[in-house]
Amino acid sequence: MPQSGPRPSDVTIGVCYYPEHWPEAVWAEDARHMREAGISRVRIGEFAWSRLEPSQGKYDFGWLARALDVLHGEGLGVILGTPTATPPKWLVDAMPDMLPVDRHGRPRGFGSRRHYCFSHAGYRRECARIVRALAERFGEHPAIIAWQTDNEYGCHNTVLSWSDEARLGFRHWLKDRYGSIAALNDAWGNVFWSMEYRDFEEIDLPSATVTEANPAHRTDFHRYSSDQVAAFNRVQVEIIRALSPGRDVLHNFMTFFLDFDHHETMKDLDIATWDSYPLGSLDVFPMPAERKAAFARTGDPDLQAFHHDLYRGAGRGRFWVMEQQPGPVNWADYNPDAAPGLVRLWGLEGFAHGAETISYFRWRQAPFAQEQFHAGLNLPDGSPDRAYHEVKQLSADLAALGTLGKAVPARVALVFSYEASWFLRVQPQGRNFSYVEQAFAMYRALRRLGLDIDIVGPEADLSSYALVLVPSMPFVPERLAAELVRCPGMVLAGPRTGSRTASHRIPGNLAPGPLADFLGVRVTRVESYRPHSAVPVRYENEVFHFDRWREFVEPGADTEVLAKTEDGRPALTRKGRAHYLAGSPDEALLQRIVARLAGDAGLAVLDLPAGLRTRRRGAFRFVFNYGPASADISPQFPVTSVVLGGARLEAGGAAVLRTED
Ligand code: GAL
Repeated sequence: MPQSGPRPSDVTIGVCYYPEHWPEAVWAEDARHMREAGISRVRIGEFAWSRLEPSQGKYDFGWLARALDVLHGEGLGVILGTPTATPPKWLVDAMPDMLPVDRHGRPRGFGSRRHYCFSHAGYRRECARIVRALAERFGEHPAIIAWQTDNEYGCHNTVLSWSDEARLGFRHWLKDRYGSIAALNDAWGNVFWSMEYRDFEEIDLPSATVTEANPAHRTDFHRYSSDQVAAFNRVQVEIIRALSPGRDVLHNFMTFFLDFDHHETMKDLDIATWDSYPLGSLDVFPMPAERKAAFARTGDPDLQAFHHDLYRGAGRGRFWVMEQQPGPVNWADYNPDAAPGLVRLWGLEGFAHGAETISYFRWRQAPFAQEQFHAGLNLPDGSPDRAYHEVKQLSADLAALGTLGKAVPARVALVFSYEASWFLRVQPQGRNFSYVEQAFAMYRALRRLGLDIDIVGPEADLSSYALVLVPSMPFVPERLAAELVRCPGMVLAGPRTGSRTASHRIPGNLAPGPLADFLGVRVTRVESYRPHSAVPVRYENEVFHFDRWREFVEPGADTEVLAKTEDGRPALTRKGRAHYLAGSPDEALLQRIVARLAGDAGLAVLDLPAGLRTRRRGAFRFVFNYGPASADISPQFPVTSVVLGGARLEAGGAAVLRTED
């Protein structure tokens, strides 16, 4: 604890609150309790359309004005959500074709949320109208510090909509992209199976074909759908910027969600925020059963960090956690409770990675409707639940730490591309080939070495990195190719990099296409494996495996072969700084390769046990124990200047050390 009162903090704690769910009489007390817990940010409003506009054009903003005044009275800064994730019944009835349509052509109905199609021009106009009305009324309200557009774009599988409006929009989009139908036919290779079109008006969405639709058609539909999310978001941002000057505009993104390009949508926003549900995400993300069991109450030690680093990158340095899990959630297959201390640990970890705000979901558990099983900071009867006390502890920790400063710039970059994930999803060529699993495996290998990592988009400047990992990038945009060639660091490119052109064709010079000279290899064949049929790989005199995928690679004259498959073919090659990994490595092989590369790149590394993780921010090193037992951190870290915690970290504990610099 500090010697003389709390020191100023440059970060804040927040909470998600729904004044419309509770009697007005409790708002003031709620706001006071928030402040007493050290909370100074509150997000409201994002699902409240039916209360803000009970019938067409009849606004009722009085309750929101009173709620804002109450919250402001306690010094809480408000993030006002636009309510467009939950269009009210009267609107859907007036405009039924605004509903999203599933791939079988069935409209998805009213009665939950996110029941709209991103392509629907009429719905966009309705969103513009309600956002404008809200921003005109509250844009200059002193309580409002930021706006959240909508809520979790794409949640519940809503980016791809197979509606009539999407079909029309897609045709226009294709016309813009290709100019002439001949150019499209040529780019897509439509001569194959006589798929040639005579006019853009003939093109349908790539569903309901007898067998697989043309991959170029499908990849373009992903691109089109992603562009609709960005365009939908932009409509709201422009209105808010005009009417609510000086406020940040942000959106809350999700975990391992790849259906639209977040880097593109972020071009219009100030801060990337994300919703962190460590236990729910562990349950639904593909991972070995033993791992899920071992970390069931803590969450995976690398999963939260991955997203902090991803969204710090997407937010150009600025990110928050907008919704932080407080206890059991309601939506995974299995919903365990969090181990004691984890609600605090997740908060501290977000701050360690550079978050400006960690905001908990939600203030009070709802005793009605869909999320009754979802914990809050308080029980439905209003009494504090365990998470409330952990949040109070977190605010005491922040007071003890004082100013945190900025996330320490990383020397390692992992290049993450949404478009890459679409290419690999459209033609996986092996049921278990997974872009996100490959990217996450590389990230985990880096984290075990105790490295600080940036996750960057394909347009990033790579000049400051000592090590750059590209998990896979089927289509390599020109700019990325140039950055990789120009950057000074060690580069590792994963399988399938450069294996396709922008229009989903094999490049004229074969894979890795534009990186052929840089990587010094040519790929002539690929194969994929069922589970349990891995190929042995010899590396540094030990035997490891490629377990899902491998490629037949011809090395160029200046290319060294660092690892070989059992039949003597190159598995890992190196030309200068450029390494090519010709398959999907098992965990041990990947760890060995990444450790060797980090060493070659001159980076100081650690060898962290499964549950121990670290990240630096400002003058602090944070250490977290996700493991099941207490751990002595002194072998890995200098514990001479401990600011929080100690050399022995209990399970679920966190320590903060002051670094020399
Ligand atoms: C998020 C969503 C919230 C709430 C929460 C429950 O996906 O944004 O509104 O549903 O999940 O965990």
